[in-house]
Amino acid sequence: MDNFTYYNPTKLIFGKGQLDALPDQVKPYGRKVLLIYGGGSIKHNGIYNTVMEKLAEINAEVFELPGVEPNPRISTVRKGVEICKKEGIEFLLAVGGGSTIDCTKAIAVGAKTEIDMWDIVTKKHIASDALPFGTVLTLSATGSEMNSGSVITNWEENEKHGWGAAPYTFPKFSILDPTHTFSVPENQTIYGIVDMMSHVLEHYFHQTTNTKVQDRFCESVLITVMETAPKLLMDLENYELRETIMLSGTLALNNMLNMGFRGDWATHNLEHAVSAVHDIPHGGGLAILFPNWMNHVLDDENVFRFKQLAVRVFNVNSEGKTDKDIAVEGIEKLRQFWNSIGAPSKLSDYGIDDSSLEIMAEKTVVASPAYGNFKKLTKEDSLEIFKASL
Ligand code: NZQ
Ligand code: ZN
Repeated sequence: MDNFTYYNPTKLIFGKGQLDALPDQVKPYGRKVLLIYGGGSIKHNGIYNTVMEKLAEINAEVFELPGVEPNPRISTVRKGVEICKKEGIEFLLAVGGGSTIDCTKAIAVGAKTEIDMWDIVTKKHIASDALPFGTVLTLSATGSEMNSGSVITNWEENEKHGWGAAPYTFPKFSILDPTHTFSVPENQTIYGIVDMMSHVLEHYFHQTTNTKVQDRFCESVLITVMETAPKLLMDLENYELRETIMLSGTLALNNMLNMGFRGDWATHNLEHAVSAVHDIPHGGGLAILFPNWMNHVLDDENVFRFKQLAVRVFNVNSEGKTDKDIAVEGIEKLRQFWNSIGAPSKLSDYGIDDSSLEIMAEKTVVASPAYGNFKKLTKEDSLEIFKASL
């Protein structure tokens, strides 16, 4: 392992009825609250009304920013920053999925600076403060509810970037009630499952030695999600299944699984390039790209981790096979699993053809000419992975 310091200040409040804790959690931060949410799902499933009732208990003065887009836009961030400054907002409350939470993180930082948030997202400037914020999670996927990362899209420039400003961009608290995810439709449930599995896989592919505990943690989350997902997709309002998936999604990206090493994250870079140009769902893009990244980077030196994954997670029988055969069989089983739950497997499933490969490949190297920590990739590698994904 590498030396490490683990720090995660987000208070996780998990379980049925835990929205009751909201008033006490918000109260210490002030009365002027900006409620941030997406395109309306929280109004259809009743979460909006309950949140408003809870905020009324502490006489909060509630301002609203609805309409956060999936793949949240910098334009919406700027709108939120303006409201905060104009109204003297004291606390932000995100109610929604990863997009709403990521947008809230950017607004929280933007409210405390005169620097345009896009310059902070693109790392031209470093954030040094933020408004406090909390979250009520309604979709299990990104882990944003318990990490300090955020992903923001600039649609005018077709750029999508991950950024973060720990400790300021950790939520003060996150309320996770699995019943809040009952209304998540089948397709978004599938994307969420692919996303959380991809986070564990991004961790799993690293070059650090002696990570025995972390490997087993990762494998256990993957196996649990794979056992649960098909049952959940047959029974979307099953509390225990939603509960298992919800905790898995949080654990997958709250940096507990990757203590003492740094995962790869090339596939997320590839996916962000695709959705910056085509605005596709993040989990859908990952399902297409991850197996192709694996096939692309697999070699004699790194085959061990692929083999371990294949045998321990995908139950590949290793008898009489070469390490490479075992590794390739594991990759195929991952692809088959995602196909079996209804995830896409080709860019053409989203109508993407070879005409945009070059521009997408260019986007993968905007931040740096070489990316990925398990194996360094260049623009040429991106092109090959995209071609294999058509
Ligand atoms: O907008 P509303 O109407 O709320 O509908 C949303 C949206 O259409 C809907 N939804 C959410 N909760 C629901 C629901 N529908 C019915 N019932 C509910 N309870 O689901 C749709 C997708 O929501 P979104 O928030 O976009 O999904 P997700 O949580 O997958 O977030 C995706 C974004 O997070 C970024 C992605 O790149 C993408 O921009 N990521 C953030 C990360 C982080 N901060 O750590 C890491 C991830 O790897 C990822 O990159
Ligand atoms: Zn992701």
